[in-house]
Amino acid sequence: MIIAIDGPTASGKGTIAKALAVHFGLPHLDTGLLYRAVGRQVWLRGGNPDDPADALAAAAFPESLLDDPALRSEETGALASRVSVHAPLRAALLVRQQAFARQPGGAVLDGRDIATVIAPEAEAKLFVTASVAARAQRRWLEMQKRGEAVTREAIEADLALRDERDRNRAAAPLRQAEGAALLDTSALPAEAAIAAAIALVEKQLEARP
Ligand code: C5P
Repeated sequence: MIIAIDGPTASGKGTIAKALAVHFGLPHLDTGLLYRAVGRQVWLRGGNPDDPADALAAAAFPESLLDDPALRSEETGALASRVSVHAPLRAALLVRQQAFARQPGGAVLDGRDIATVIAPEAEAKLFVTASVAARAQRRWLEMQKRGEAVTREAIEADLALRDERDRNRAAAPLRQAEGAALLDTSALPAEAAIAAAIALVEKQLEARP
């Protein structure tokens, strides 16, 4: 059983994907982390994230990089968004993601193109979204907790830029896949969003032929 979760940055899809993995007893892959590792690797090597060759070379990042706390930073998120436009890099990361999705027993994957490209055959598909204001507010609270000084306006501007890049790129743009259930978390606290996601997935599983 594959559960595919897509959506923009800070929509709550990561929290929902983790909770679904626990609820259904499945392994989980945060695919954004792979793009973040590539972005970070390009930066560590002094490369150019807008150069497809530099991005592709960084796909061979060391596995230990996935544990680097710097992957969670806004800077790395912006680098990830830039490297992720390159089709050769996406092709290089596809194999790894599909192998994870197709492991015996199934898996939960979250990202931007899980239901559209990586696993269109998924038994359950969710498109998790929220308003820019709600997402900026969440990101701002997270950063406050980490003691990072940044204004809500700056976060909103960065989110809007990343949305624009993710939705309008030629290679695997972010969009709601056919058959994916829409979940808007703008007004939902985490627990309510998780409960709604479980209900939507169960409905899709019951409707299977
Ligand atoms: O989800 P997260 O914010 O960690 O993703 C970082 C960036 O990686 C996104 O802005 C997006 O450009 C890219 N990404 C992608 N495809 C995925 C996951 C992430 O293009 N499946």
